[in-house]
Amino acid sequence: MEEVFGGLVVVVTGASQGIGKAICLELARQRPKLVLAARDEAALERVAAACSAAGAETLVVPTDVTFEAACRRLVERAALRFGGIDMLVANAGMSMWSRLGEVEDLGLYERLFRLNVLGCVYPTYYALPHLKRSKGRIVGVSSVAGLNGVPTRTGYSATKHALFGFFDSLRIELKDDGVSVTVAAPDFVVSEIHRRAAGPDGKPLGESPMQEGKIMSAEECARRIVRAAARRDRLWIGSFRGRVGRFVKLVAPGLVDAIAARAIRERR
Ligand SMILES: NC(=O)c1ccc[n+]([C@@H]2O[C@H](COP(=O)([O-])OP(=O)(O)OC[C@H]3O[C@@H](n4cnc5c(N)ncnc54)[C@H](OP(=O)(O)O)[C@@H]3O)[C@@H](O)[C@H]2O)c1
Repeated sequence: MEEVFGGLVVVVTGASQGIGKAICLELARQRPKLVLAARDEAALERVAAACSAAGAETLVVPTDVTFEAACRRLVERAALRFGGIDMLVANAGMSMWSRLGEVEDLGLYERLFRLNVLGCVYPTYYALPHLKRSKGRIVGVSSVAGLNGVPTRTGYSATKHALFGFFDSLRIELKDDGVSVTVAAPDFVVSEIHRRAAGPDGKPLGESPMQEGKIMSAEECARRIVRAAARRDRLWIGSFRGRVGRFVKLVAPGLVDAIAARAIRERR
């Protein structure tokens, strides 16, 4: 893989675990300046220590991305410490596992939109002047659930569709600025997201319902996302069914719906 991130300043949200953590570790080998953001400071420090050991310079900025002021501060601290920003990976997110009719508190939908959508909009907005100066890169982490509906995921899928609208529009706006926008759409990946997904009562499930041995590892997902960002690809889709589903949907949308329903039924 072409190594383009040496010495570059990369801000990653959701860096404390899962795919964000794996992206930091994947990048670290190239010796970038990594800015790690999430809420769990102790976990961020552990990831930062591992990244430093691999060769990166690191800055930990505890951040709740659902707050605009916190995202402004994240960007300010990154720029102050490292003199600019070359890439933003807007990755923080959460999921759900409940049919609409079973959801007990619609506040869940507000939480999902605040984190998954506004939690990408805020850091992107504040990082934009720096990214224009560096002709940098933006990576937005959506999902295959952003390309097609998925049962038990009405709110999650809606937020991930929203990210396609946001980042695809932004890519056009930034065309003349030399800033690339890569949207990553993983399929199921082993991470904390399934255990932490909100059930009908809005609380985390506590245990992952997935067949974890049969889905992509966070490390593999991170490798693919970093490669797509390095090449400035516009889109990376994490599975064959996701890639092909886009085209099948045009002629046989019911078939794609059936594949989505089976994925949830079989938990892989
Ligand atoms: N795993 C999958 O199957 C899968 C598939 C498709 C797409 N994705 C997407 O990939 C992204 C990463 O998910 P993951 O699977 O790695 O999940 P994960 O293991 O649960 O990690 C989620 C990350 O987001 C952070 N986060 C949560 N709430 C936050 C907040 N309010 N402010 C700042 N950070 C926050 C978490 O850190 P703290 O708790 O420390 O804040 C954590 O670092 C998400 O956008 C997800 O939708 C995942």
